[in-house]
Amino acid sequence: MSSPPPLDDAQLADSVIPAGADPFALFDEWFAAAQASEPNDANAMALATATAGAAPAVRMVLLKGHGREEIPGGGFTFFTNAESRKGQHIRANMQAALLFHWKSLRRQIRIEGPLTEVSPERADTYFHSRPYKSQVGSAASDQSRPLPVRQAYLDRVQEIWAAHEAQGMVPRPAHWTGFTLSPRRIEFWIDRDNRLHDRREFLRDSAGGPWSDTLLYP
Ligand SMILES: Cc1cc2nc3c(=O)[nH]c(=O)nc-3n(C[C@H](O)[C@H](O)[C@H](O)COP(=O)(O)O)c2cc1C
Repeated sequence: MSSPPPLDDAQLADSVIPAGADPFALFDEWFAAAQASEPNDANAMALATATAGAAPAVRMVLLKGHGREEIPGGGFTFFTNAESRKGQHIRANMQAALLFHWKSLRRQIRIEGPLTEVSPERADTYFHSRPYKSQVGSAASDQSRPLPVRQAYLDRVQEIWAAHEAQGMVPRPAHWTGFTLSPRRIEFWIDRDNRLHDRREFLRDSAGGPWSDTLLYP
């Protein structure tokens, strides 16, 4: 005989994701919990892009800025090589989706919306905030293009390292930049007992516009 349905569990009746919450503030709360509990890279997120023809692709990147002050209306920023495969997708289709899955917390956040490129000043500041070796590694990489032999990359690293070692900084390549996603949809998902999970979706029509929210069937 199967066990009775868990309907008498009073704790399951209420959503733990507050209605009417500010999704940026809620993101901050969950992100702080992830930074305290994840063994590494709590800021790692899957970034989904699509070609002009709507063929999707996804890969991990690091969240390097977020919140209401990020751009007017708030946003989520990552940095990359704009000539990479993802960069080509973004140039053709300035929209993306982000996904955080914090396994130790059993929580997921999904964020969707249009992208804007960061200013050259912002890209410079972030590029030069990274260690010298990271600047060299990025400047030497034709990200996503075929590399005939690994030594070709290492030779280029050596060359760039030697050329800029005295200054201790590498000029930011023009194609190395950042993008900020302006959310139109943010969804919070949390694991609950008996697989009766909890989801709340926040939607808005424009950057800075009012959010509406609803629970979703899990
Ligand atoms: C945890 C993690 C974090 C990463 N962070 C970045 C990042 O911030 N920027 C980036 O360009 N690539 C990052 N990468 C590498 C990307 O996943 C990917 O391999 C690379 O950007 C090329 O993707 P593309 O060919 O789709 O453009 C990261 C990979 C992992 C596993």
